Amino acid sequence: TNELRARLSAIVDELGEIGSPDGTASFAASEVDTVTEFIDQLQVYEGAMYEISTKLEILDSEFQVHFSHDPIHHMERRLKSIDSIIEKMRRKNLPLTVQSMRDNLFDVAGIRVICNYRDDVYSVANYLSAQSDIQVLRVKDYILNPKQNGYRSLHVIYAVPVFLSSGAHYTPVEVQFRTIAMDYWASLEHALRYKTDLPDAKLNEHSQTLLDCARSLQNVETQMQSIHRDINGAPQGTQA
Ligand code: GTP
Ligand code: MG
Repeated sequence: TNELRARLSAIVDELGEIGSPDGTASFAASEVDTVTEFIDQLQVYEGAMYEISTKLEILDSEFQVHFSHDPIHHMERRLKSIDSIIEKMRRKNLPLTVQSMRDNLFDVAGIRVICNYRDDVYSVANYLSAQSDIQVLRVKDYILNPKQNGYRSLHVIYAVPVFLSSGAHYTPVEVQFRTIAMDYWASLEHALRYKTDLPDAKLNEHSQTLLDCARSLQNVETQMQSIHRDINGAPQGTQA
């Protein structure tokens, strides 16, 4: 596909830089093998991302049918760009090999699941985690334990089998579960983080205000959740 071709040329550029400081890329057969292996691996990550999204869509529609309730507001998914993969591996002083990417990067495939209510976050996450064909590699519950800056979300890294001609390849996918309010907050906080041209005093003031906003949003969410529980009965799925 065109997208893959674009990725390929990005890797070729990158390898060119590494291979020859003057940028004239001439490739040994082993480098071409590495590029091919890299692209194959990205395709496996993409497959893993689709597997998990499909599972989430199936859960969402089951809830609609059985409980007349839509737990998932919407989903976003992305494959980490080649530039970000290389940047992260350099930052962590990892060798630029496919093996090391597989062993060390768990967020190459990422899905964000934006739910209506906090109960939905936990029921969708728990139902997905209980599925027998996938494994939970890591859980970080920033809803139970919010970050200092006010960030809240539930992060789970799953390993999901992707079936190729060579058999099952268990591949990690990072899933961030959060409510609409948490997503609303995280978007602005993310934008502020990359706004480096503001004076420090202004940045600090905004960070403090954002922390206040996080607490207010959490209160609003709790109150609305409780109205919703009264209207719809007990929450579906296991409670946190
Ligand atoms: P790295 O991925 O190496 O940074 O470490 P990690 O995987 O241990 O990080 P963690 O699970 O804490 O967070 C991974 C992702 O969550 C980030 O890439 C962001 O998308 C999101 N995230 C984490 N903390 C924050 C935050 O404070 N603000 C916002 N807006 N997003 C965050
Ligand atoms: Mg990460």
